[in-house]
Amino acid sequence: MPFGGGRRACVGRDFALLEATLVLATIGQDWEVEWKGEDELAVEPGLTLQSQDGLPMWLKRR
Ligand code: HEM
Repeated sequence: MPFGGGRRACVGRDFALLEATLVLATIGQDWEVEWKGEDELAVEPGLTLQSQDGLPMWLKRR
């Protein structure tokens, strides 16, 4: 439940989802991303979902 729910749900939800889409699309125009982790991504649930060991990736300019 990344944005909570009910009466106190996040008011920035739509903005945050739009912003994240635009950021990823902008990065993806110039960079190719390749996963370099040995295993699948391990996640750690908390107030927000975090990756356990960062995000090991190669960035290659398109
Ligand atoms: C990825 C981005 C974001 C995440 C994961 C997130 C997550 C959350 C969560 C979990 C809550 C608590 C909901 C609850 O108590 O049930 C919350 C509340 C809130 N968020 Fe966000 N949020 C994000 C972005 C934003 C943005 C961009 C804004 C404003 C522009 C914003 C404004 C607020 C406000 C004002 C509340 C309090 C709502 C209330 O208590 O009535 N958030 N958010």
